[in-house]
Amino acid sequence: MSGHGTPLPMTSSACGPLNGVAEVPGDKSISHRSLILGAMAVGETRITGLLEGEDVLDTAKAMRAFGAEVTRHDDGSWSVHGVGVGGFAEPDQVIDCGNSGTGVRLIMGTMATSPITVTFTGDASLNGRPMARVTDPLALFGAQAVGRNGGRLPMTIVGAADPVPVRYEVPVPSAQVKSAVLLAGLNAPGQTVVIEKEATRDHSERMLAGFGAEISVEESEDGRVITLTGRPELKPQVIAVPRDPSSAAFPVCAALITPGSDVLVPGIGLNPTRAGLFTTLREMGANLTYENEREEGGEPVADLRARFSPDMKGIVVPAERAASMIDEYPVLSVVAANSTGKTMMGGVKELRVKESDRIDAMARGLRACGVTIEEGEDWWEVTGLGPQGVPGGAVCESFLDHRIAMSFMVLGMAAQAPVSVDDGNPIATSFPIFEPLLNGLGARVKRG
Ligand code: S3P
Repeated sequence: MSGHGTPLPMTSSACGPLNGVAEVPGDKSISHRSLILGAMAVGETRITGLLEGEDVLDTAKAMRAFGAEVTRHDDGSWSVHGVGVGGFAEPDQVIDCGNSGTGVRLIMGTMATSPITVTFTGDASLNGRPMARVTDPLALFGAQAVGRNGGRLPMTIVGAADPVPVRYEVPVPSAQVKSAVLLAGLNAPGQTVVIEKEATRDHSERMLAGFGAEISVEESEDGRVITLTGRPELKPQVIAVPRDPSSAAFPVCAALITPGSDVLVPGIGLNPTRAGLFTTLREMGANLTYENEREEGGEPVADLRARFSPDMKGIVVPAERAASMIDEYPVLSVVAANSTGKTMMGGVKELRVKESDRIDAMARGLRACGVTIEEGEDWWEVTGLGPQGVPGGAVCESFLDHRIAMSFMVLGMAAQAPVSVDDGNPIATSFPIFEPLLNGLGARVKRG
């Protein structure tokens, strides 16, 4: 959906201990991919635990527009009857991906090697984000893109009628770009090769293999070399979407900074390409333990137990860890503000082109709440105020960015004066139950 309606101000005030079990929703990255790969398989893919956030619902709607049958059952599970690789029909409407960069970039890749013409749009945040990073490699397959100045949405893509396979070295650490190229490669003859210097989340590789595609990953001097053989027949799957570590980050961080808290966040995927935040928090001295460690669907999973941690210290977060925690820097900066000493976060240029410029968005709000931040193009540093906490008392802008809005709500839980955001609507894109779930643990998040 483009736009999020009337702004929804939200305020979070200091609360007593957070206690209980926080069952966070399904993984957003895996949810998008389940729907898209289901739509490319022949037969019925069944999905449980799908994230029913706006971003994913927009992708479900898009898959219907391409001809797949996508149904939600009364028990909350979903079915996708796919059209097969190369079977996408030309939609008779503009594809509106709302706030979702993952949705639009993956779908662009998926349609780019079919002889169809598709126009994409999104909300004000998505329409400001760079798309050339995806349309450049898609042009190598033979697709053509016409967008607004600088490669922005709304944008029309004319898919290649006669696609050729490509070999592409991804110039930015981006799972969305990697995945767009792999999905395009599905309907190109021969082998498509994608090389990434830094490992980014590998859900596309794992799931393509699960759906029966021929795909291999080799570590070489140049990085990870992924080779996909085009035109497979994808086999429908039964998918149990694990809970989202990026959503788990909010109750975990809230518990670490709120006096007396003890929160269990069960069933969280600890895939090494996603779990960088939890490693970082433990290095800072967080009382965060992994309980009941197990393997589910080929992924390491654990129950996370987070307890109030008044002795956390600022650290230098290794730049090479950035890709594995790229969505978690906003909430990490909130923990850093409540720790002792400086937390330096480098190698994070990508934060400037997310749903908002996340360094700028957090720096503005944290400064307004009394925290000292220094920043450069690809780094920022937060000076922690220690367990005495953050003064707070400001209204922070969320810039149409769910993770910014949720991070400021977490800040308010341990601040001296309430913290507000001008608009909490974007939270529904990834974590629609954020407010009742956190309040159920003891938080005081209110509308208004
Ligand atoms: C995602 C990749 C990341 C991440 C986003 C989800 C994905 O984006 O920030 O929330 O599902 O592939 P980039 O590929 O731009 O790093």
